[in-house]
Amino acid sequence: MQDFISKLPKAELHLHIEGSLEPELMFKLAQRNNISLKYKSVEEIRNAYQFHNLQSFLDIYYEGAGVLQKEQDFYDLTWEYLLRCKEDNVRHTEIFFDPQTHTDRNIPFDVSINGIHAALKDGEKKLGITSHIIMCFLRHLSQEEAFKTLEHAIRHKDKIIGVGLDSSEVGHPPVKFQQVFEKAMAEGFKTVAHAGEEGPAEYIWEALNLLKVERIDHGVRCLEDEKLVAYLKEHQIPLTVCPYSNVKLKVFENLKDHNLRNLLNKGLVAMINADDPAYFGGYLGENFVGTQKALDLSKEELKTLAKNSFKASFLSQDVKDKFYKEIDSL
Ligand code: ADE
Ligand code: ZN
Repeated sequence: MQDFISKLPKAELHLHIEGSLEPELMFKLAQRNNISLKYKSVEEIRNAYQFHNLQSFLDIYYEGAGVLQKEQDFYDLTWEYLLRCKEDNVRHTEIFFDPQTHTDRNIPFDVSINGIHAALKDGEKKLGITSHIIMCFLRHLSQEEAFKTLEHAIRHKDKIIGVGLDSSEVGHPPVKFQQVFEKAMAEGFKTVAHAGEEGPAEYIWEALNLLKVERIDHGVRCLEDEKLVAYLKEHQIPLTVCPYSNVKLKVFENLKDHNLRNLLNKGLVAMINADDPAYFGGYLGENFVGTQKALDLSKEELKTLAKNSFKASFLSQDVKDKFYKEIDSL
């Protein structure tokens, strides 16, 4: 199965680039930028990655991002992720970045976007991996702050395909960002949002109806609402599911309890993603292998997951068709 999984071409649609910051690179960048970390070793950092919910992870994740200072740091972070993509046969990736995590530390917007974008361009040239960038608003901050961030994104429209919504879900419903999403759409950005990870099915409805999103990030709690499942199926709204993340953040107790197969059986467009692989113990290939084992997924189901990853992407129909053909030939 491992061999079959490596041969499957895959797209990744739910990956926070800051969540791919490995402890080794964190140390290297801390040294390069004269920043002192509270951890003494890579091992100590890894041992600190014990989470009991989303917030306990986010606290550590935002702290870790503090080592990212210069354009080159963002380049190196993104390049290391792309090398992992190559290993896992990820042919296309649509990555999130969280500019407010950096602008709040006085790192200009242009530093993060330019470093990430330069690495992605090199990834296409040297590794043959295509990509898009989705800029996320941090939902624990105000809509007013999101509007300021959108102004920066507008200056970089040539590099950013869409906007998303992430960070602490419960207590920060999609409605809080309705106007800024309206403006983003008017500016031509596509929209996605994290919803139904820890938050209720109602937040998924809001993301669909108020933010007009084309994809739901996570969305695993949709099964609590039958009408919502019917809607997601009818409109083939993709769910960018992240199995390892969900277990690490206690959305499901064990991988065996994950509802991915149920989502597929209900005719939903779900696929596998890594979310924050440096923190959750595995990149896309590992998420595939671990989830296949835990749920005993068949080759047909794995093919469906890989096809769904392209179907849900922002690639053109032509390119999607080429990938479907390649997957069908396996
Ligand atoms: N930021 C990074 N990973 C996230 C997740 N899984 N949910 C919400 N915000 C995030
Ligand atoms: Zn996420």
